[in-house]
Amino acid sequence: MSADDAGRWNARYQQGWHSNESKPREVLSRAAQLFQPGSLVLDLAMGMGTNAHWLLQNGFRVVGVDVSSVAVQSAKRQNQALMAFVGDLCEFHFPLAVFSAAISFYFLDRKVLSNLPRILIPNGFAVIETLTADMLEIRPELPAGFLLHAGELRDSFSGWKVHY
Ligand SMILES: C[S@@+](CC[C@H](N)C(=O)[O-])C[C@H]1O[C@@H](n2cnc3c(N)ncnc32)[C@H](O)[C@@H]1O
Repeated sequence: MSADDAGRWNARYQQGWHSNESKPREVLSRAAQLFQPGSLVLDLAMGMGTNAHWLLQNGFRVVGVDVSSVAVQSAKRQNQALMAFVGDLCEFHFPLAVFSAAISFYFLDRKVLSNLPRILIPNGFAVIETLTADMLEIRPELPAGFLLHAGELRDSFSGWKVHY
């Protein structure tokens, strides 16, 4: 990710690219029932913070990181309790075994995914949802490297208990 990429995301947010969706992802509202109440959750590439805000409203503590300063500032303005950072996740170094859960929606960096077991406490949760390579059939312009292959998450987290 380069400074240009950060600029591109900032421009998208400034142009109102994000949806006005105020509800969390459905998979998150189900998964959060398994989280320890009040525990610390990391929102990877949180965007405007819809999921982070919902977690805060439900008593969790949230650290959100995104490369877009526009998105991070907007998310922070909406809820001062959000611990929000502007940063490139591909270069970010998180403390080890601190987060009870990490969520990642519509962002894929395989190095970041491979670090999750170290970032999470033992028996922590990873909640991940993003596009798969099937999308290329209807949106061939999507960068293939950002799309999950069939079964990739299951293989990447082999040995983890899967809830869905
Ligand atoms: C499709 S949006 C998803 C935002 C949010 N997770 C959601 O579901 O609403 C992708 C987000 O990833 C962020 N992003 C892209 N590359 C990143 C990187 N290397 N480090 C941190 N954030 C990044 C963008 O700024 C953008 O907010």
